[in-house]
Amino acid sequence: MKITKAVIPAAGLGTRVLPATKSMPKEMLPIVDKPAIQYIVEEAVRSGIRDILIITNRGKGLIEDHFDRVPELEERLSKGGPEKQRILKEIIEIAHKANIYFVRQKETRGLGHAIGCARSFVGNEPFAVLYGDDVILGKDPACAQLIRAYEEFGKGVVGVKKVSKEAISKYSSLKVEPLHDNYYRCTDMIEKPSPDEILSLYAILGRCVLPPDIFDIIDHTEPGAGGEIQLTDAMRTLARRDGMVAVEFTGRRYDMGNKLGIMKAQVEVALQHPEIGADFRAYLKELCKTL
Ligand code: UTP
Repeated sequence: MKITKAVIPAAGLGTRVLPATKSMPKEMLPIVDKPAIQYIVEEAVRSGIRDILIITNRGKGLIEDHFDRVPELEERLSKGGPEKQRILKEIIEIAHKANIYFVRQKETRGLGHAIGCARSFVGNEPFAVLYGDDVILGKDPACAQLIRAYEEFGKGVVGVKKVSKEAISKYSSLKVEPLHDNYYRCTDMIEKPSPDEILSLYAILGRCVLPPDIFDIIDHTEPGAGGEIQLTDAMRTLARRDGMVAVEFTGRRYDMGNKLGIMKAQVEVALQHPEIGADFRAYLKELCKTL
């Protein structure tokens, strides 16, 4: 079955980036001139996704506004020169990239609970999940890489990368064995492992493709790490029962949920930016001499 639906959970509290996220969702933090969530929507669209559900909560109206039309602004830009016309085209396109829907997670009870809010949108189809604070940039969209694995194996797929021993306790840890190329069979996983619980240094980073059975599993998943209903705990049930596929995806991943991740994204994207890239590179070189 072709995967055309995606869910972007964006209802977390973003406590690691306070006070910036007190009234501004972290998913709206810009990387140079585009909010994080727009990069994520663009990745989904480039992966063949047509319908996107964004899970929001109180105070995330800014996300809804970003994907809407703004007649007054469009009117003003339409009277400008070629550069204003280019921006006009771009901001109109944002509103038409895909069919974008919103639902509110009424209580912040964890990522698993947030995904559970997508049940009626998803129906009985497999679907992609793109975490709202994980931006992945690369030629071959990460979501598309996972969708191809789903098409090959017909099983739930997680996007993984190897992380350091020191970092793994902040993520999940997966039990994996090689399948072929960058594909691994995954039969177990654990969220935020303590040192003696580490299964491997492969961690899920921001992307998965799930069968609709995940919703019943989420309904029966007890709160785990941090007292939240963890998506990893629900996927662990799926991995133990049916097996899953882990794809070591290509592309640079930026964690927009923490300060260092945000700064790395800013610097690397700015260096490639067609408008400011050259000037920023020159500035950075000068700055480096003083470090
Ligand atoms: P995180 O655990 O990184 O988000 O969730 P958080 O809770 O906002 O982070 P901190 O620790 O307080 O800084 C990963 C993704 O899942 C979403 C978040 O918005 C983020 O995109 N999420 C998390 C939800 O949608 N609902 C939740 O209840 C929790």
